[in-house]
Amino acid sequence: MPSSVRFLTVRMFSLLLLFIHLRACHSSPFMHPLCHEEESHALMQFKQSLAINESASSDPSAYPKVASWKVDGESRDCCSWDGVECDRDSGHVIGLDLSSSCLFGSIDSNSSLFHLVHLRRLNLAGNNFNNSEIPSEIRNLRRLLDLNLSRSSFSGQIPAEIVELSKLVSIDLGFNSLKLQKPGLQHLVEALTNLEVLRLTGVDISAKVPQIMANLSSLSSLSLRDCGLQGEFPMGIFQLPNLRSLSIRFNPYLMGYLPEFQSGSQLETLLLEGTNFSGQLPESITNLKSLKEFNAKKCYFSGVIPSSLGNLTKLNYLDLSYNSFSGKIPSTFVNLLQLTYLSLSSNNFSSGTLHWLCYLTNLNTIGLNQTNSYGEIPSCLGNLTQLAVLKLNQNKLAGQIPSWIGNHTLFTSLVLGFNRLHGLIPESIFRLPNLEVLDLRDNLFRGTVNAGLLRSRSLVSFQLNDNNLSVIGNSNDSVALPKFRILGLAGCNLSGEFPSFLHGQNHLEYVDLGQNKIEGHIPKWFMNLGNLRSLRLSGNKLEGALPIPPRSTIIYQVSDNRLTGEIPQAICNLTSLVILELSNNNLNSKLPQCLGNISSSASVLDLRNNSFSGDIPDAFSSDCTLRAIDFSQNQFEGKIPRSLANCNKLEILNIEENKINDVFPSWLGIFPKLRVLILRSNRLHGVIGKPRANFEFQRLQIVDLSGNCFRGKLPLEYFRNWTAMKTIYKERPLYMQNKLSGEIPVQLAQLNFLEVLNVSHNVLSGPIPRGNQFDTFDRTSFDANPGLCGKPLSRKCGNGEDSLPAVKRDEGSAAYPLEFGWKVVVTGYASGLVMGVILGCVMDTRKYEWLVKNYFARWQR
Ligand SMILES: *[C@@H]1O[C@H](CO)[C@@H](O)[C@H](O)[C@H]1NC(C)=O
Ligand SMILES: *[C@@H]1O[C@H](CO)[C@@H](O)[C@H](O)[C@H]1NC(C)=O
Ligand SMILES: *[C@@H]1O[C@H](CO)[C@@H](O)[C@H](O)[C@H]1NC(C)=O
Ligand SMILES: *[C@@H]1O[C@H](CO)[C@@H](O)[C@H](O)[C@H]1NC(C)=O
Ligand SMILES: *[C@@H]1O[C@H](CO)[C@@H](O)[C@H](O)[C@H]1NC(C)=O
Ligand SMILES: *[C@@H]1O[C@H](CO)[C@@H](O)[C@H](O)[C@H]1NC(C)=O
Ligand SMILES: *[C@@H]1O[C@H](CO)[C@@H](O)[C@H](O)[C@H]1NC(C)=O
Ligand SMILES: *[C@@H]1O[C@H](CO)[C@@H](O)[C@H](O)[C@H]1NC(C)=O
Ligand SMILES: *[C@@H]1O[C@H](CO)[C@@H](O)[C@H](O)[C@H]1NC(C)=O
Ligand SMILES: *[C@@H]1O[C@H](CO)[C@@H](O)[C@H](O)[C@H]1NC(C)=O
Ligand SMILES: *[C@@H]1O[C@H](CO)[C@@H](O)[C@H](O)[C@H]1NC(C)=O
Repeated sequence: MPSSVRFLTVRMFSLLLLFIHLRACHSSPFMHPLCHEEESHALMQFKQSLAINESASSDPSAYPKVASWKVDGESRDCCSWDGVECDRDSGHVIGLDLSSSCLFGSIDSNSSLFHLVHLRRLNLAGNNFNNSEIPSEIRNLRRLLDLNLSRSSFSGQIPAEIVELSKLVSIDLGFNSLKLQKPGLQHLVEALTNLEVLRLTGVDISAKVPQIMANLSSLSSLSLRDCGLQGEFPMGIFQLPNLRSLSIRFNPYLMGYLPEFQSGSQLETLLLEGTNFSGQLPESITNLKSLKEFNAKKCYFSGVIPSSLGNLTKLNYLDLSYNSFSGKIPSTFVNLLQLTYLSLSSNNFSSGTLHWLCYLTNLNTIGLNQTNSYGEIPSCLGNLTQLAVLKLNQNKLAGQIPSWIGNHTLFTSLVLGFNRLHGLIPESIFRLPNLEVLDLRDNLFRGTVNAGLLRSRSLVSFQLNDNNLSVIGNSNDSVALPKFRILGLAGCNLSGEFPSFLHGQNHLEYVDLGQNKIEGHIPKWFMNLGNLRSLRLSGNKLEGALPIPPRSTIIYQVSDNRLTGEIPQAICNLTSLVILELSNNNLNSKLPQCLGNISSSASVLDLRNNSFSGDIPDAFSSDCTLRAIDFSQNQFEGKIPRSLANCNKLEILNIEENKINDVFPSWLGIFPKLRVLILRSNRLHGVIGKPRANFEFQRLQIVDLSGNCFRGKLPLEYFRNWTAMKTIYKERPLYMQNKLSGEIPVQLAQLNFLEVLNVSHNVLSGPIPRGNQFDTFDRTSFDANPGLCGKPLSRKCGNGEDSLPAVKRDEGSAAYPLEFGWKVVVTGYASGLVMGVILGCVMDTRKYEWLVKNYFARWQR
């Protein structure tokens, strides 16, 4: 019998047997080779080395596949076991898929798993291997084609032996705590040249992407998401002929550019979010004909979005938010009919209306915050029947909320804050059944909102801050109200007693009731809402003692009220506190000594303008995290506590208008980040002395030492070394926004750090000083000050005026430029909004306060 015929006969015979088997539903030992004894044993041992634990797999469809494995009875053939695949002819185990099988326990080097040397496919994803390292015995599995160990709690270095698995076609090691450094990515890629799928999500690589990766001509799916990649991404990878999916998201130090794309690209998914990619989107992006998903959120792209992007009609997901794109949003976007997700938020687009959106009828999510959009919210948007998320905040939208919005029951998020919308809020919005987020902050809405009418059961975030609204409600409403997590009713004309409709709101985490007219005491029930994290009650008429919020509180702001009495000891239990603002109340007495406890979590401690007295507790903890301290305008006395030296993250220190009796705290000079130091109006005394080290007060931008009893002169050395100011002036022109008047003090000319000066658009008068840097400033620095005269301006000064003596360069150490008695404030404002050198004689105190306050506010953001 020719062998082919014999083969056929055998095959037909076994098919027949299979048929009988299926009909009779019992196993036949002759059907196909039984699994090999030693492999069956190895599998069983592997099963026994692990526990079954439901919580080891998070996939809802997970179940313990190994539970049905038996060594006796009808199903003793391991080839029939769940998750086991055998070779039909040899009977060897060639596949093991125990993904999401609730396995819990360690895998070590003598695990019987590594006896399964015929394995071609191994999938252990979605289990919990208890932070095991991947044993180097993985090298035994030389025939492996597919290896999937994702989401299974492996840790440590990926063993070097993995490069011996040279047949590998697909590797997924993502979502573990693994490192790939020995071998590195380069070594891996050099060895595994057949790779089609490489997914290393979350693997710590911390290296460059090797150029040779662009040689993996079979590669179709590459995920190097969140791998700590550095350097420049090899452009050649984009050109790989079979590449369909590329994710290099969340590698903030990975630089790169998009290449000119050739036609014929297979790319369907391109995810660049959170990388350092920059440059422009090339016109040739239109060649990515298969592209369905493009996410370049939070990169550094700029320029105009090419209109050819509108040719990619398969796109269903497009996120270009948080870049620096400029120009118009291309009108060709109306062709992207498959789009379901579109976000272009936070770019530098030139202004435009929203009507083009109406063509994109499959949209489910629109994110167009901060896109310079104006006009009305078009009524044709009502054609987008799938729309569930509409985010349009921080634009210039005007008009009213269109009435169809309240009929569109799919809405889950309506974010329309920071626009110029006006009119009444349609009540139907409050009945949208699926609404979770409603943000109408900072518009011009008017009318009265009755909390009792809120019927959106799923609403968790409700923000009406800063409109012309009045929110009312009573305690009966509290039962029917949805349970909020985020509630913003600042500036909503809440008046009278504390709003009782908040009774029972025990899911509240972020609450802003600031800038209302709430009177009386803060009730105990409110402070007992256990989930509070951020509580702002500033700007009301609250009185009585300072209540202490739950321990979970991170932000507590009750400034500008009428609170009285002392700070209770219990505040020290708020060990998560990051911001504490109690300014502008009538709080008094000594501070509790234990307040130092919170200095190991807090960043901001603002006690300004109360009546606190006694010493500032000398209890700042050794792990002090404070970045801003404002104790100004109180009755504090004694010394600046020496434990403050623990707070070396300090950026702002303001203790003005107290009775602090100390010498100049030169020991603050070592703080590497101190930018604002205000010691004005205290009882500080003595000679300031020269700095002991060269690096003292390196970062200072605002200094105010006026109104003390310092003697002598401010050492020039300090100014010389306040190089931070210098740097800032170099970067951006120095200009003064709040207008100045009077003459430019001659002494200013002596400040050597003045590299750039701009005092234009003020009402300064008199002659411009000469000497030092002043000779280098050109006329634009002094523009639009009608009273100024002298060089470099063409306007001559009057009689005698232009004979101001030129200041000689560096008159030696005797030439201290600024004597006390002068109110000296040197300011440099990092954001570029306000920078300058302001001398007391021309300074308006309120502007100065505004400056410090704004510095503070901007800094907090
Ligand atoms: C199940 O696994 C969890 C961790 O995922 C662990 O905390 C728990 O102790 C385990 N239970 C048993 C019975 O092993
Ligand atoms: C998990 O790992 C911990 C720490 O190494 C060890 O104490 C524990 O016994 C392990 N549990 C199992 C089930 O392997
Ligand atoms: C290897 O297995 C034996 C018994 O099976 C066990 O006693 C030993 O601890 C294991 N070795 C390691 C390194 O886990
Ligand atoms: C690995 O397995 C997980 C869980 O089953 C799955 O989500 C993932 O897509 C698999 N990876 C590959 C490359 O197939
Ligand atoms: C990688 O590809 C480039 C360009 O095709 C080629 O010059 C180079 O020799 C290849 N490197 C290896 C190691 O194959
Ligand atoms: C792409 O779109 C532009 C218009 O934006 C059109 O002129 C061009 O022909 C299109 N190119 C391709 C290749 O479809
Ligand atoms: C858009 O609005 C949402 C909701 O307020 C917010 O979470 C997101 O940060 C905003 N994005 C931009 C770019 O403003
Ligand atoms: C879109 O809505 C407008 C009314 O707002 C309607 O006149 C128009 O026919 C609609 N277009 C489509 C394509 O449904
Ligand atoms: C909203 O729905 C109501 C009731 O179904 C209907 O009378 C009204 O015309 C709808 N309004 C809009 C703008 O679609
Ligand atoms: C701080 O919390 C502890 C534990 O909850 C409590 O026993 C103690 O009374 C609290 N201290 C103050 C001053 O409230
Ligand atoms: C500080 O100033 C002195 C001169 O007074 C100078 O020699 C020194 O280099 C400066 N140090 C720094 C860090 O700028």
